[in-house]
Amino acid sequence: MNIVSGPASKELAKSVSDSIGCRNVSVVLKVFPDGESYVRLEGDVLGEDVVIIQTTCPSMQDSKLFQLAFMVDAAKRAGACKVTAIVPYLAYSRQDKLFLSGEGISAETVVNMLDAVGVDNLVTVNIHSEQVLSKFSLPVKSVSAISLLADYFVAKGYKGAYALAPDKGALYIVEEAQQVLGGGVGYLNKVRDLYTGQVMQSGEGLNVKGETVIIFDDIISTGGTIVGATKILKDLGVKHVFVACVHPLLIGDAAKRMLDAGVEEIIGTDSVPGPYSKVSLSPLISKHLKGAI
Ligand code: R5P
Repeated sequence: MNIVSGPASKELAKSVSDSIGCRNVSVVLKVFPDGESYVRLEGDVLGEDVVIIQTTCPSMQDSKLFQLAFMVDAAKRAGACKVTAIVPYLAYSRQDKLFLSGEGISAETVVNMLDAVGVDNLVTVNIHSEQVLSKFSLPVKSVSAISLLADYFVAKGYKGAYALAPDKGALYIVEEAQQVLGGGVGYLNKVRDLYTGQVMQSGEGLNVKGETVIIFDDIISTGGTIVGATKILKDLGVKHVFVACVHPLLIGDAAKRMLDAGVEEIIGTDSVPGPYSKVSLSPLISKHLKGAI
């Protein structure tokens, strides 16, 4: 097996190849003055199974997506056998159904595009909604990084912390975290206006006074959901608030807004490389490639 280091996930890909002891193929990336990307694989993949690791997080997620498509095409033209794309953050995965008439299903378009260029298998991490996996045109697997995030807090001495989901949709996430943390579990009520994007949250029935609470979510974008959740928790008398997410997009001043609201620490994974990406996906991806999950 050969691991191709996509330009957006170079360090992660290197760590995965080191961990499973297979060849790492580097990639030359050039961006032309007009913004178009050029990629070239620096290694022979003739007759090889190839795994391309490339996240498609902001910024420039469209360019990262096209770079991925170009790497897949390059590998197939160079005679690779099976091509697996590992895309830790799959751009557009939140538009996975029709919310309003006149929309498209962007997640399906992305997967169809990767299918068309020759991806045989697609692996991602905590896709926004697992229910859509079976609807895609090629085999897509979503592996979960939640226990790695929970492990981080156990290592810091927070075994027994309360795992809170910012909405009911993320309840399955906190139930996974609870397996590791062993504390309480619950969720806030959240309703988002589909036209304005405005969010209404409430914490009725939550008994978290004096607790250490870790809010778990798949994605943090503007941080608005977490700021609202933190305010509710503070009003309910919690002792400490921490935040863990798989995909820390953290657009603009999202991190500052959360810290100003009273969050003591924010952690995420390197699906989105950055200052808060304290948990690497390397063990999870390596385990998957070894066939252990
Ligand atoms: C929504 O269902 C997601 O799980 C996240 O809660 C949402 O994407 C977070 O967005 P923001 O950080 O902009 O509130």
